[in-house]
Amino acid sequence: MFDFNSVVNRRGTHASKWDMMAKLSGITAPDAIAMWVADMDFKAPPGVTEALEAEIKRGIHGYYADTGSWAEALAAWFQRRHKFQIDPAWVSATPGIVSGLGLILQAVTEPGDEVVVFPPAYHAFRKIILANDRKILDAQLVEQQGRYVMDLAALRAKLTPRTRIVFFCSPHNPGGTLWSADEIRELAALCAERDLILVSDEIHCDLLFDGRAHVPTLTAAPDIADRLITCVAATKTFNLAGAHVGASVTTNPVLKKKLDARIAASGLGSYNGFGMLATEAGWRTGEAWLDALLPYLQANRDEFDRRIQSAVPGARSMKLEATYLAWVDFSATRLGSEAVAARIKDRARIFVSPGEQFGPGGKTWLRFNFATPRPILDEALARIEDAFRDAR
Ligand SMILES: Cc1ncc(COP(=O)(O)O)c(C=O)c1O
Repeated sequence: MFDFNSVVNRRGTHASKWDMMAKLSGITAPDAIAMWVADMDFKAPPGVTEALEAEIKRGIHGYYADTGSWAEALAAWFQRRHKFQIDPAWVSATPGIVSGLGLILQAVTEPGDEVVVFPPAYHAFRKIILANDRKILDAQLVEQQGRYVMDLAALRAKLTPRTRIVFFCSPHNPGGTLWSADEIRELAALCAERDLILVSDEIHCDLLFDGRAHVPTLTAAPDIADRLITCVAATKTFNLAGAHVGASVTTNPVLKKKLDARIAASGLGSYNGFGMLATEAGWRTGEAWLDALLPYLQANRDEFDRRIQSAVPGARSMKLEATYLAWVDFSATRLGSEAVAARIKDRARIFVSPGEQFGPGGKTWLRFNFATPRPILDEALARIEDAFRDAR
């Protein structure tokens, strides 16, 4: 019913993933393959395209009227997919999750305050914290039985009176860890004990494998609702990153008022109509598409893991529970992780995300985006197999 196998040429279309590759990676080969930033090489759900086509056909693209339907569509989606009850009155739209994080920092912290992150963690967390003159407090994740766990005892010992807020990524990027209700509750209890705001970035929560379920932080720890802001979006789920719309959700009216004041002060209370129409259409019409996409991604994950581990002896791919971002450790390879990265870039002509971008603990890892049609994935894996043939 949905065609995820066809290759759409994105080169020369202002697709950051493909058109920024040479500049960011130095790979200038015309056949370079992009496996870095988290966007997929699949067309959006047909209902999204239809909504945008209707807008294009009308041909008038004036200011967007927020009649409340966007937040209602959001609430209905999360109720249906995750049994997560969101009152539309708790929702503030921002131009993406990362800009929302910056606005949250400005709303509830001061320059010089410390923000907890759990590295290796999504690199934009680090950037937005530093760009706002706040400090990063790293709470290194620990690998246990092939998945990440939080070391909250170590974190507790590191907290200072300047620590104000925690950026929690659930599911985690990179590594695709789905946090259990108990793990979330323990973190929530620490936030309550030390008077910290908890920001739970759940942008990847629809991209789940092996029939697993996502546990929203608010569901796991309703007792800390007053200090919780959950960030959600339709943009990862339906491949609409260019729409640049996200939502910050909090049940605490005081917190929401502070955030909305920052949004107003930045002139961001009026929204990009294309982004709003596209993301609302995703939530309203995209369910069958997503249900078809997930097994396709899961098969890509399994194929990628199998072939990378045999192509590069010693490579170890973390078994993703969520996200489409394979996280692979090359520390045990004979060549060493730096030589492996160089071969992937220079011989295979593939641009992947360097692990050190994700902070402490990422140095020997690379992140590969496998959300691409099978012909591209096959070509990438064949090139990697070739690039390491003499090393096996
Ligand atoms: C954990 C996480 N949060 C946020 C984003 C980006 O969100 P936005 O484009 O809405 O700023 C990403 C994109 O990869 C992500 O992985």
